[in-house]
Amino acid sequence: IRQHDALGLGHAVLCASHLVGSEPFAVLLPDVLVLDKTARSNGYSFKCLADAWNRTGVAQIMVEPVAEEDVEKYGIIDTANQDHEFFTPFMSQGVVEKPSRETAPSNLAVLGRYVLPNQVMELLENTPAGAGGEIQLTDALNVLAKKGDLGAFKTDAATYDCGNKGGFLAANIAVGMRDEATRAYVQDRFNGLDRFSEK
Ligand code: G1P
Repeated sequence: IRQHDALGLGHAVLCASHLVGSEPFAVLLPDVLVLDKTARSNGYSFKCLADAWNRTGVAQIMVEPVAEEDVEKYGIIDTANQDHEFFTPFMSQGVVEKPSRETAPSNLAVLGRYVLPNQVMELLENTPAGAGGEIQLTDALNVLAKKGDLGAFKTDAATYDCGNKGGFLAANIAVGMRDEATRAYVQDRFNGLDRFSEK
């Protein structure tokens, strides 16, 4: 499905509603790479998210702590306690899209992995434009949170926000370094870093 106009993530999700039908659904934002620890199976964090949904039947989102100066780039959740254990689901009391540092309810950012009940499609149909003039998935999820229907958990995976140049480069390096042959090649090529300081 192609979203022809950039009207926000909520609008993008709504574009797929005829395919989703009446089923629950998952949203995975591909510009965020979630790289689980190598000792774990591939996609471990997302599997935990799906398991939490299967256990509770309540919307689930994955979050991670971000630096104070970065809260304005993400959806930020409201939670009574910020020191949750990894992979231990808790209920979120709210979620706000790209708050200022002063108004952010916590430093726990929504990192682009969601398992959601079909009801979210209905909520999106009635969600007015929010932050940035866009229809925000976050605003629909906030309605659930206020009713006590939004679960969240922290992942310990490494995440890379490919929406900026540094994050994109770091994601490629991280994946490349996990492949033995690529790792050896890059190490060989980069042996002697002097060439990078040439003017
Ligand atoms: C979107 C979501 C935001 C989330 C972020 C993760 O924002 O709206 O809540 O924290 O993805 O990357 P975007 O990056 O599209 O501005």
